[in-house]
Amino acid sequence: MEKIKTLVYNDALEGSKYVAKKIQELIEKNNKQNKKTVLGLATGSSPLKLYAELIRLHKEENLSFTNVISFNLDEYFPMKPDAVQSYHKFMFDNLFNHIDIKKENVNIPDGTLNEANVVAFCNQYESKIDAAGGLDLQILGIGRTGHIGFNEPGSAENSITRMVVLNDVTRTDAANDFGSKENVPVKAITMGVGTILKAKQVYLFAWGEKKASIVAESINGAITDQVPATFLQKHKNTTFILDKAASVVPA
Ligand code: GLP
Repeated sequence: MEKIKTLVYNDALEGSKYVAKKIQELIEKNNKQNKKTVLGLATGSSPLKLYAELIRLHKEENLSFTNVISFNLDEYFPMKPDAVQSYHKFMFDNLFNHIDIKKENVNIPDGTLNEANVVAFCNQYESKIDAAGGLDLQILGIGRTGHIGFNEPGSAENSITRMVVLNDVTRTDAANDFGSKENVPVKAITMGVGTILKAKQVYLFAWGEKKASIVAESINGAITDQVPATFLQKHKNTTFILDKAASVVPA
């Protein structure tokens, strides 16, 4: 019996459409009550089909994001917002430029800060999430280390938004994006495990056989800071959205 609710779809498109529909229902319900919707968003390849479907819902079904406030999970440090590898650019290219979200409602960790100002920025990021009423819904991918956001092995359950040092496996996986591993930043700013666990609803996407073993460990393994995604077992309202390949542990 898995310790986290898990839904398995034929492919990434089907699973992404299911979550897009949930987001649509949430935003429309809140819009009717004149309430804001606070979304926690992720980068990486895993949420790309979700974002494409949200854009379609905006263009074809008039889904409006004018009452949405977004908080992104993480950003490399240092990182210029217009750099090709920046999560800032990723979000505008793949979602924000194609919907009617207000720029002032978009929040992404700042990779251009002076290091001396990072702690204050991170504390403000937490306060801003709280002031918005907390995250209604958080989207996650998962890294091969079991990281969520950039919460690498060793991240505490109650960790908050902070500067972290990236794991070697994570930098190896990002090498393609940067031309080589040496070019991958050593640090990042990420929401904490504790920040994520405070979200009212969490959806974690994983596609493909490469994710199968870390997904199985996250769902069924002992809760440990060595696999930060296992902390999601403690969250009351988390659903893993998998394709068939990610749901079968290779023999
Ligand atoms: C990066 C991101 C994570 C993401 C992970 C997996 O490390 N910081 O938030 O979940 O990559 O990426 P992908 O979805 O491309 O497999």
